[in-house]
Amino acid sequence: MRLRYLGHSCFLLEAAGVRFVFDPFLTDNPTAPADATPASIACDYLLVSHAHDDHCGDAEAIARAHGATIIANFELAEYYASRGLKTLALNPGGARSLAFGRVKLTLAHHSSSIGTGASPVYMGSPCGVLLEVEGRRIYHAGDTALFLDMQLIGRGGLDLAMIPIGDAFTMGPEDALDALDLLRPALAVPMHFNTWPDIVQDGDGFSARAAARGHPVRAMKPGETLEF
Ligand code: NI
Ligand code: MN
Repeated sequence: MRLRYLGHSCFLLEAAGVRFVFDPFLTDNPTAPADATPASIACDYLLVSHAHDDHCGDAEAIARAHGATIIANFELAEYYASRGLKTLALNPGGARSLAFGRVKLTLAHHSSSIGTGASPVYMGSPCGVLLEVEGRRIYHAGDTALFLDMQLIGRGGLDLAMIPIGDAFTMGPEDALDALDLLRPALAVPMHFNTWPDIVQDGDGFSARAAARGHPVRAMKPGETLEF
């Protein structure tokens, strides 16, 4: 399978002939590759961890351009359904088997709202996404703090984990190292850093520190592709 990093927490995964986009955020993403636009990113499923704009900003545009199905928590899925889009609603702990395999939403400790300023609209629970495809298990943590129940997410093994390290809004590198101890993925890719000045981190430094603790980590550059 093939994973392309589109900057921030946005990834395109191609597996079993199906194209998944995790946390679609291209238009206002200063780190998105120039060739990655809603029109150019053909996809079948959009996996949206929560309602913050830096995770779903291009969900509607991509879904409309390619007829993709948006998978998200119940409230956010209802919102997109009301906009005439194809959706699949889940909530944390719940999974569905689909033609490609299985998708489950996990806990995440964060917030989830649309709109800024005085009146944000709350949009259900923030989530992580656990995808089973081609017999492999792939976890995208969304935005989250470190939490001990990550042990449960790692149960059964993870082939790949995408975890935030930016700090400020999510766990930072220290807590992300502890998260790797709980998740124990075969490979981890850090995300949600270096997009803006308040979440600047050293991705390669994080990889080196993780390696010293026995965790393989690859800090991808936006635009880079990984075959695994
Ligand atoms: Ni967020
Ligand atoms: Mn975020």
